[in-house]
Amino acid sequence: MIEVRELRPDDWQMWRRLRQEALSDAPAAFGSTLAEWTGPGDTEGRWRARLTDVPFNVIVWWRGIPAGMVGAYVDEEGTVELISMWVAPFARGRGVADAAVSAVLDWAGGRAVGLSVKVDNQAAIKLYRRHGFADAGRSPDDAGERRMLRSMSMNQIPDARDAACRAD
Ligand SMILES: CC(C)(COP(=O)(O)OP(=O)(O)OC[C@H]1O[C@@H](n2cnc3c(N)ncnc32)[C@H](O)[C@@H]1OP(=O)(O)O)[C@@H](O)C(=O)NCCC(=O)NCCS
Repeated sequence: MIEVRELRPDDWQMWRRLRQEALSDAPAAFGSTLAEWTGPGDTEGRWRARLTDVPFNVIVWWRGIPAGMVGAYVDEEGTVELISMWVAPFARGRGVADAAVSAVLDWAGGRAVGLSVKVDNQAAIKLYRRHGFADAGRSPDDAGERRMLRSMSMNQIPDARDAACRAD
């Protein structure tokens, strides 16, 4: 029922469609805006570059329909940064978000994983806590965001994710 597919730059149209939907549906959740990714900013080259510069991008399908997305890259300190997380409203509460976060954690392997989330985004904060992320203070880049981190050890201990799910 839930299928996770990693995208390549050739899949840019699929990513474009969902990302524009995400920016339209939840503008307050993201640093990017729909205006930046439509009109003159909406070019094949730019979408391809996005899928190249960020090395891990997945779409999660729910009952055969593209229903969620997430991306990840490794920062200068070796921390995996989870970005562009979104689940379509029709698919929320059905495990699509869990599949997306789990895909990033699998890709991260033994590395720490970090993310930034708007301070009032309770649904996202609950989701990340459930996967073992802990608050790491105010974002240095945006006063309206908090940083959340999931330590390396969480990735290394088998079943730590399940334990984290129950802990909060
Ligand atoms: C954040 C998001 C990905 C979560 O997807 P989801 O499918 O609803 O995820 P879950 O079903 O795991 O729900 C997450 C938690 O939020 C809770 N929740 C759902 N809607 C909520 C709301 N409006 N307010 C507060 N909590 C809410 C759920 O009950 C669940 O809590 P629990 O862990 O205690 O059970 C989705 O809401 C979304 O795409 N939002 C818009 C984009 C966004 O915020 N992206 C994240 C950027 S950091």
